[in-house]
Amino acid sequence: MLPAPRTPGRYRIALVCLGNICRSPMAHVVLAARVADAGLDDRVAVVSAGTGDWHVGGPMDRRAAALLTAEGYDASRHRAQQVLPSWLEEHDLVLAMDADNLRDLRALASAEPDPERLRRFRDLDPDGPGDVPDPYYGGDDGFRDVLAMVERTAEAIVEEVAALVP
Ligand code: 4NP
Repeated sequence: MLPAPRTPGRYRIALVCLGNICRSPMAHVVLAARVADAGLDDRVAVVSAGTGDWHVGGPMDRRAAALLTAEGYDASRHRAQQVLPSWLEEHDLVLAMDADNLRDLRALASAEPDPERLRRFRDLDPDGPGDVPDPYYGGDDGFRDVLAMVERTAEAIVEEVAALVP
């Protein structure tokens, strides 16, 4: 179950990893594509950011972008940004890619965050919860694994969100 929208008829989702060049941008591009496919892009907004600031303003990791492009997605428009504490109050869902990202996001919150709104992305994975492992220091297989997790989870998210923004 996903939480109700803060503003009726609109749903805002933020996806957060460490660098905002691999995992959360992949999730962002895939989820935004699924949202558009479902005809919900006028009501559902997707953004992404990193907890760190090293890559701010830069493009997606070239391995992530190459895989997304090969699979038919548009990876060209991504520019990395750093998450702001205010995102925790503004978004209906803030989804952390792993447990470290979740801990870092909790540390940014001024009040105890609602665990329904701030949680791990793969809490919504139909194949079960867990981390989206960081593929940055590994090989191409890691990126393919991330894409598979992100695609099935994005589909599940869109199905649930569609019922919340009729
Ligand atoms: P991401 O991967 O959090 O999935 O974007 C990383 C990207 C960069 C770094 C770490 C993880 N880094 O240390 O620069």
